[in-house]
Amino acid sequence: MNLRDYQELVDRELDRLVPPETAPPETIHRAMRYSLFAGGKRIRPILCLEAARAAAGRVDGAVMAACSLELIHTYSLIHDDLPALDNDDYRRGKLTNHKVFGEAMAILAGDALLTLAFQVLGRLEIPADRKSRLVAELAAAAGTVGGMIGGQVADLEGEGKPPDAALLETIHRAKTGALLRASLRMGAIFAGATDVQYEALSCYGEHIGLAFQIVDDILDVEGSSEGLGKTAGKDAQQHKITFPAVYGVEASRRMAEAECARAHQVLEPFGEEAAGLHELADLIVRRKS
Ligand code: IPE
Ligand code: IPE
Ligand code: MG
Ligand code: MG
Ligand code: MG
Repeated sequence: MNLRDYQELVDRELDRLVPPETAPPETIHRAMRYSLFAGGKRIRPILCLEAARAAAGRVDGAVMAACSLELIHTYSLIHDDLPALDNDDYRRGKLTNHKVFGEAMAILAGDALLTLAFQVLGRLEIPADRKSRLVAELAAAAGTVGGMIGGQVADLEGEGKPPDAALLETIHRAKTGALLRASLRMGAIFAGATDVQYEALSCYGEHIGLAFQIVDDILDVEGSSEGLGKTAGKDAQQHKITFPAVYGVEASRRMAEAECARAHQVLEPFGEEAAGLHELADLIVRRKS
């Protein structure tokens, strides 16, 4: 699996899906594109494509559905950075959306990316039952019950509360894990996976989903703002409930490794077709940004 090729594939498709900066009203399209093309790793769409490969042996046609995940993810980042939420000035190595376009336009750019994600799924030319499952999966993962917004609410309401292991896991599974698990599930649904394959890919998604946010928390402690492209040290400053706050950095790292090992295990039945997913699990725990 060549990560750079995948990133280029996703970027080309996103460029095709998002209205050009010249389309009126120009400001919103500039704001959407500013954050979308600021240099994200594209982990979610790539996981979706590799899930399709693991289930069906090929990724053909799945890139449009995969991009809906990146649209939702980028919207969640723009809103996460707003002064009313984490109040961040930098994201993906650039000033945050609201710093450049103002809060009103940043809110609308997030809303617009969210809406576009479902428009993109609506335009897929695939059997209706698969399409409706994709829509339902993405909506649930981004939603309030165990999904991204539910996790963001718990994250915000947890600020300043005593570090609590059970609450920590609930927050992380929801705010980050749900969309990562959905990335695997959507690839499986798109590819027409069997129930057994779907369950295995979901399980892999849960393990790497938790590992991903543990590592995000560790990088917030150990990384530099320059390397991360976002302000380091924010979590402690805002008294967030994080893995390092509850367990310390060393134990957190061991927990991320353990999740990664379980992710590898559940891929066993897929054999060679899951080589890309094995690589992605390692990349998620070893990443430096
Ligand atoms: C950062 O996600 C926000 C979290 C959910 C932890 P990524 O680390 O995938 O960010 P980008 O997309 O590469 O910028
Ligand atoms: C954000 O978690 C998860 C989202 C739903 C965007 P964080 O607040 O830890 O993400 P970063 O560290 O700002 O990227
Ligand atoms: Mg946050
Ligand atoms: Mg944040
Ligand atoms: Mg973070």
